[in-house]
Amino acid sequence: MCGIVGYTGTQNAAPALLEGLKKLEYRGYDSAGIAVLENGRISVSKVTGRIAGLEEKTEGGALLPGTTGIGHTRWATHGAPTEPNAHPHASNDGRFVVVHNGIIENYMELKQELLAKGYRFESETDTEVVAHLVEMYYRGDLKSAVMRTAARLRGSYALGIICAEEPDTVIVVREASPLILGVGIGENFFASDVTALVAYTRNAIYLEDGEFAKLTPDGISVFDCTGHEIEKKISRITWDIQAAEKGGYDHFMLKEIMEQPRAVKAAIAPRLHGSEIVLDDTDIDLTGIRKIVITACGSAYYAGCAAKYAIEALCRIPVTTELASELRYSDPLMGEDTLVIVLSQSGETADSIAALRECKSRGARALAIVNVVGSTIAKIADWCLYTWAGPEIAVATTKGYTTQLTVLYLFALYAGRKLKTVDDASYRKLLSCLKSLPKLLQQALDMNPEIPRLAKKYHRADSMFFIGRNTDYAVALEGALKMKEISYIHAESYAAGELKHGTIALMHDGQPVIALCCNDAITEKTMSNIVEVKARGAEVLAVAHRENSKILSLADDMIFVPRVHPLLSAAVEIVPLQLLAYYVAKENNCDIDKPKNLAKSVTVE
Ligand code: G6P
Repeated sequence: MCGIVGYTGTQNAAPALLEGLKKLEYRGYDSAGIAVLENGRISVSKVTGRIAGLEEKTEGGALLPGTTGIGHTRWATHGAPTEPNAHPHASNDGRFVVVHNGIIENYMELKQELLAKGYRFESETDTEVVAHLVEMYYRGDLKSAVMRTAARLRGSYALGIICAEEPDTVIVVREASPLILGVGIGENFFASDVTALVAYTRNAIYLEDGEFAKLTPDGISVFDCTGHEIEKKISRITWDIQAAEKGGYDHFMLKEIMEQPRAVKAAIAPRLHGSEIVLDDTDIDLTGIRKIVITACGSAYYAGCAAKYAIEALCRIPVTTELASELRYSDPLMGEDTLVIVLSQSGETADSIAALRECKSRGARALAIVNVVGSTIAKIADWCLYTWAGPEIAVATTKGYTTQLTVLYLFALYAGRKLKTVDDASYRKLLSCLKSLPKLLQQALDMNPEIPRLAKKYHRADSMFFIGRNTDYAVALEGALKMKEISYIHAESYAAGELKHGTIALMHDGQPVIALCCNDAITEKTMSNIVEVKARGAEVLAVAHRENSKILSLADDMIFVPRVHPLLSAAVEIVPLQLLAYYVAKENNCDIDKPKNLAKSVTVE
């Protein structure tokens, strides 16, 4: 989704803007642009397609000299991905230029008003109204004009605005869209994401909804929505620049798959104090909780589906999983006896934010499990546990998913202990398994050198089925999603026991079926389903423990996973499926880190 950056300092702004935009490429975009202010004039350059095209067009930024500027990557919502629709957008007199991340919901009525006053529109975007409003309200002070403009806007926005008459100045404002200020020496920055800042500074200010800031090379002043200057804390960004680069891997996705043992360790280790789990400084109040609702989108939702089994088993509280996009409009039956757990890597997914707000408005207590520090979901929830996975750049999540699961396992054990619903022996056994998860993940990565070869065998498939039962089924959901999002092969996940009720009609000679058989309690049953699909010609790739000799004799091909306690197994079982999707996509020459039509952070509905 859209990304924004801005710079004011003593160096030329354009190269820093281009570098920042490159760091935001992973969010998904289809056009890009920058604007630079020099000697009372603002120059704008835009392209459709990749940042590389913008670099070429501007000769690496050299064609736009000037020390103050703003930049944008656009993921089309209002209007096609064309150059006129790309940001930055200028006012009719060219004095004001704006970049915007979010959606202005009342732009149609504002556009009518501005058209009636004689303003011309060059694009189909919602954003352009902002440039014209700022021009309309400008009386010699950009900050005041932006404040008056923001008061007219409904929706979500992070805006960066420059004015030809105010050298060295950038005004930003935030409402329900991420916006972070980077504090430098003699230069200051803003961006929608810390990954665009870490090359320049580790000192950041996180703006809250309704806050404005004025950036000049010498300082940053922050104001509340009434215009009063306020003090803001400077936070330290702990993510380093290497973490946001490929480090020798062909793709971010592969790097992030390989990082999982370390990421999971980082999520667990600081929270284990001897045999006790201490969830940061947070004491999650579970008194009177009778039901738990897990809500999220995409892979985060599937992490919830997998963790449901552990939470129910250890806490003896019913858990339902709800897609955030459904929950928000479902008139949910919940109240003070409900704990809602919202999972989100980015912490900015629009549907997840809306679902969380809906649940809170009904009295539910809210726990967020989020990767990005200071994100919207982290702020709205009553309690937040960070996954500490570090920056995740590939659009298809991997370490984001496994660390979400890990934190959910920690929560399940913590809550079971607190509620006294887990006995000491089970607690100790599960805690020891949890501690060994990083090692088991490493084994899962190491024990499958055959996956690239299997990818060569299966990559031409038109469709694939992923089947399993219980926790294996939950992993099948995520395995199928990984396959379809990066390889573009139709992949469907099915509860193995449901095959007979329709899907088995689709089996034919050579139809690939990925069968997950890692949960011993139910493996025999899944094996019967393997027999059934094989009888109809399916080619079965089984995911199982190496010791399971029966499966070895049934399946056409095997992927191995180490033995893990079934309640915690999903976090390990997913690893070979991530690798399979990766190598299949590689065989098919797909754009693995930036799959078509997808965005990393879905900040619009
Ligand atoms: C997008 C991403 C997925 C992610 C989902 C939810 O669809 O491509 O990888 O699972 O959003 O994102 P979140 O940031 O809320 O976890």
